[in-house]
Amino acid sequence: MTATLPAPRAAVVAGLGGWIPHRAVDNDELARTLDTSDTWIRTRTGIRRRYTIAPGEATSDLAVEAGRRALKSAGAADADALVLATSTPDQPCPATAPQVAARLGLGPVPAFDVNAVCTGFVYALATAAGLIATGTAERVLVIGADTFSTILAPDDRTTRAIFGDGAGAVLLRAGDRSEPGALLDFDLGSEGEQAELIQVPAGGSRQRSTGLAAPARDHCFTMQGRPVFMHAVLRMSASTQKLIDRQEWGTPDKLVAHQANIRILNAVGDQLGLGEEQVVANLDRVGNTVAGSIPLALADAVTDGRLAPGERVVLTGFGGGLTWGSAALVWPDLPVEALPHQPPAA
Ligand code: UT7
Repeated sequence: MTATLPAPRAAVVAGLGGWIPHRAVDNDELARTLDTSDTWIRTRTGIRRRYTIAPGEATSDLAVEAGRRALKSAGAADADALVLATSTPDQPCPATAPQVAARLGLGPVPAFDVNAVCTGFVYALATAAGLIATGTAERVLVIGADTFSTILAPDDRTTRAIFGDGAGAVLLRAGDRSEPGALLDFDLGSEGEQAELIQVPAGGSRQRSTGLAAPARDHCFTMQGRPVFMHAVLRMSASTQKLIDRQEWGTPDKLVAHQANIRILNAVGDQLGLGEEQVVANLDRVGNTVAGSIPLALADAVTDGRLAPGERVVLTGFGGGLTWGSAALVWPDLPVEALPHQPPAA
């Protein structure tokens, strides 16, 4: 005899918000101190501008603002768990999430960090959906926040051209799979053999156990751009295709992918047979904000009308680890505040 298990509770997107710091850095400003140009950055990456935190600010400051906006969007006063995706926590220990929860007035709720670098937001969504499915939480605030400006080498023109600071958040609530906003399916993966393609070499147990101080540069972020580009296209395309097949969607209405490079977005769109208008891009305005990237792209797309209620969406991310992950949902009807940045340059 086989017992029929009750269908697990679905996690439903009930609110969305994003936040970026005030200081805008355009390509011309970078070119004043680095051997680069607006033309190179625009044509090779699609990025025109990124934002950086001010001295004294930290990842938690952006996370709190994004979280506040997601709660407001949902019309909720609080949440009963918080998952923060970040690879630039305020400090290595403890996690940043409990401080964010405290500043948001959530009380003594479970709060923890998830580090999957640029895939962090999708991993955090899946983790939060698990908390809801098991009945551990009714409403989970999921925040992706990073401040890569704090770990880039000042003279690394490649990474400084791409990365910017920012945060985005969604509030998930318990609900039913049939509701718009329900997270219908996930695909997650990793390939640790390729960890060295994206890393901060020093500052962890391996370097510290040598008893030797690491050179300052080893505390900075490094990325091997070309192989990472190829892995990103391959993994995000395959992961998205898996969800499309399992949902029997044929083609989704919109793809909201990690915003690293417009050429990556175009290549993934081509692989999946999507038109340019189906692939959401906002990296021209904010750069690559790591774990903040997908919710910030969602917030921009909703507020400027590129993503509408009822559209079938796949979210897909790729990043250090290597890691990748995707989620499928039908977009719900939510009020979302515009990001506090200027419109794209003409
Ligand atoms: O977010 C997590 C995952 N990250 C990604 O998905 C990023 C994936 N990678 C990329 O987006 C691209 O590989 C980059 C934007 C990082 C680099 O673009 P690329 O077209 O792959 O350039 P490249 O690394 O192959 O370098 C080509 C040339 C090199 O010069 P030489 O050796 O041909 O003389 C670089 O030194 O471009 C040079 N270069 C630059 N020139 C001007 C690299 N960065 C710059 C720059 N300005 N900022």
